[in-house]
Amino acid sequence: MKPSSRLDRLPPYLFAELERKIAEKQAAGVDVISLGIGDPDTPTPGPVIEALAEAARDPGTHGYPSNRGRPELREAIAGFYDRRFGVSLDPETEILPALGAKECVFNLNLAFLDPGTAALAADPGYPVYTGGPLLTDGDPVVMPLVPELGFAPDLDAIAPADRERARLMYLNYPNNPTGAVVPDGLFERTIEFAREHDVLVVHDASYTETTFDGYVAPSFLETPGAKEVGVEVFSLSKGWNMTGWRTAAIVGNQAAVEAYWRLKTNIDSGMFEAVQLATAAALDAGPPAEMPGIYQRRRDLVCGALAEIGVDVTPPKGTIYVWAPVPEGHTSASYCELVLEESGVVVSPGGSYGANGEGFFRISLTVPDERLAEAVERLRGSLGG
Ligand SMILES: Cc1ncc(COP(=O)(O)O)c(C=O)c1O
Repeated sequence: MKPSSRLDRLPPYLFAELERKIAEKQAAGVDVISLGIGDPDTPTPGPVIEALAEAARDPGTHGYPSNRGRPELREAIAGFYDRRFGVSLDPETEILPALGAKECVFNLNLAFLDPGTAALAADPGYPVYTGGPLLTDGDPVVMPLVPELGFAPDLDAIAPADRERARLMYLNYPNNPTGAVVPDGLFERTIEFAREHDVLVVHDASYTETTFDGYVAPSFLETPGAKEVGVEVFSLSKGWNMTGWRTAAIVGNQAAVEAYWRLKTNIDSGMFEAVQLATAAALDAGPPAEMPGIYQRRRDLVCGALAEIGVDVTPPKGTIYVWAPVPEGHTSASYCELVLEESGVVVSPGGSYGANGEGFFRISLTVPDERLAEAVERLRGSLGG
């Protein structure tokens, strides 16, 4: 057996050693609390589950779905974008369901990259922005997110040769892992850049519905000219507590949506129609209103405790993560191993989100309040000096 050389292009898996240590701890009877993965602990809203059950009882949903998606779903997405963002989308040509933002981001690489071309990827960032290009024979070119620029990439710093070969650019606000919200003017500057260099902008809007302190996140498509150069990937995973459902959409530029559809008809057979109808119900009802308050409370708990033990942390205005620097003398991996060793708490090494995440760690707020409080107590006790 010989796996493809494509797999060799992937970077080493930073969680490997951590996973081994977690298993070891658990085997030794330690009650490990994982603040590693961003997977909501709160269930999907009841009415969405009811809508799924009702749709699943209709044999009309049992056949192969079409990759275009049911009209009910495309119209619900258009309605949501109109109400929530004031963005008008044509349900026929500017919207397609996706099996999660992950599928969509990965497949966009297949649809747009050739050998020798590149995707510009925010770093630190969701690992598929770089893994996707590597697995589809393109090249990821990382754009460091600059803390002094509010975690915007410095577009002027992109090398001329990389501008020439870039076909895609990945941005994501509110941002995983930094928790940053979109800096003023960035979307406008990105549109100019994309026009000049003929790049498709892919804005990953996975966290627009989870924001704090009264901040309301925009859609990229609200910016004038965005639809000419870009698409948005919108996911229900985080905002509606639906990670397991695999439901998202690509919306925006017609030609890009069409290219994605052409590719996808050769890869998968679409989303179970009952899930499509339940997604439409979820969008009509809007995201569960209590979730931002829950995460904001947890954010305050974590940031307060980190500040107390001397970690310099800025409370994020969005996402379900807290991003903080590791103490001097540690790499992000070595610090996460120490935290696990000393307190039985798992946090994610910043380096697993790209070279520019090195020196940081990420805490996910997706565990019940009591478990989070317990984790915070342990961190205080073991790392408090
Ligand atoms: C920025 C970002 N994009 C996409 C995803 C994946 O979302 P989905 O569950 O819709 O595939 C995640 C999940 O953590 C994410 O953080």
